[in-house]
Amino acid sequence: MVRFVETSVRDGHQSLFATRMTTEEVVSLCKILDNAGYHAIEVWGGATFDAAMRFLSEDPWERLREVKKVCKKTKLQMLFRGQNILGYRHYSDDVVDMFCKKSIENGIDIIRVFDALNDIRNLKQAVESTKKYGGECQIALSYTTSPVHTIVYYTDLAKQIEKLGADSLCIKDMAGVLVPEDAAKLVSAIKKEISIPLELHSHCTAGVCEMTYKAAIEAGVDIVDTSLSPLSNGTAQPSTQALAMALKGTKYDPKLNFEAIHEAEPLMTNIVNKYVANGLLNPKSLEVNPNILTYQVPGGMLSNMIKQLSDQGAMDKYEEVLREIPKVRKDLGYPPLVTPMSQMVGTQAVLNVLNGERYKMCAKEVKDYLHGKYGKAPAEIDEDVKKKIIGDDETIDCRPADLLEPEFEKLKEKYRDIARSDEDVLSLALFENVAVDFLKKKYAAEADEIDEFEMFI
Ligand code: CO
Repeated sequence: MVRFVETSVRDGHQSLFATRMTTEEVVSLCKILDNAGYHAIEVWGGATFDAAMRFLSEDPWERLREVKKVCKKTKLQMLFRGQNILGYRHYSDDVVDMFCKKSIENGIDIIRVFDALNDIRNLKQAVESTKKYGGECQIALSYTTSPVHTIVYYTDLAKQIEKLGADSLCIKDMAGVLVPEDAAKLVSAIKKEISIPLELHSHCTAGVCEMTYKAAIEAGVDIVDTSLSPLSNGTAQPSTQALAMALKGTKYDPKLNFEAIHEAEPLMTNIVNKYVANGLLNPKSLEVNPNILTYQVPGGMLSNMIKQLSDQGAMDKYEEVLREIPKVRKDLGYPPLVTPMSQMVGTQAVLNVLNGERYKMCAKEVKDYLHGKYGKAPAEIDEDVKKKIIGDDETIDCRPADLLEPEFEKLKEKYRDIARSDEDVLSLALFENVAVDFLKKKYAAEADEIDEFEMFI
């Protein structure tokens, strides 16, 4: 039997419509999906935290608590970017520790941790803290292809991950570039080396994902990530229903409860129709794009890039930007294209094309990366490019978080007038400006409600 992890309420809308599903929508679906018999439902983390506060004026912690209330049977899973937590830079160890603690306290069962560069020094604290607070820790290896990302590279990494204390391992193919033959080889090679369960997470962007899943399942993968149709395919995961039907009656049958799934379908259709009507779901995100097997662009990155380019009226440069991406990637030492590296490489490719000169402009994050502040690049960084961007600056090669002072108590003190809980302090630690605006608004609105209530007494 293969187990399914349902991703529609996290990765599904993050890949297809910029993570805009509301708490009410997420909770209404989770209430039903709790009965479907999944291994877990991925409900939190990734971009959901930032998007909730920034675009929806919603408290991400409240969402988690509401989901937990309606999910009594199924484990809740979140995506956690190692030392970056859910943000885009490295945070100090005490913030990572507190974030794991509070995530578990508020309802998370499984924390899926990964590092964009597969630098395991950046996973250490999250793994330790998850286990310390009684959570299940899954480590995901960021899958990509390059001259250095060989089967030997990944099996070595898998062994290190098991040794680090992970409860399970995930092959995280965020770009959907894993093809069936390679999946079969990779899964069997890793299964030979580790004894913890192995999961596969991929995206349909290139149009080969279902075949890849089938190959991986036959090679022995234990768990796969799927998304409820109609929030599946395109840049998201394969359809839960389709894959479950395809495996029905075989020894891999996930034995899902289709009654619950059929109950969730009309709800999901209404939600998706809303985002098609308001333009957030660009039909381009639903197309099959086999070219990404060349360009290696993850779903979320692709939909954000389409938005960036169309906002600037530069959609005619789309193909050119796609061609620039692998070049930037090579220059930067073949980082896997996953947050925050995907944003860095994507934005750099856009800048290189729109400015008409490569590396004329650079984001601060790219400069930090070149200074070593995100960890070790998988391969050598192009010396000329590095020189053009950071000159002869000194760089670091230690675990980047070793250089960071504890931050949590300082932030708590700084925002003692705004933050009312440790969860609020964590929101401020991750997305300071967004969280200040959000929390001020939230507590002002609550005060108004109390005033109104008192008037009636
Ligand atoms: Co994904």
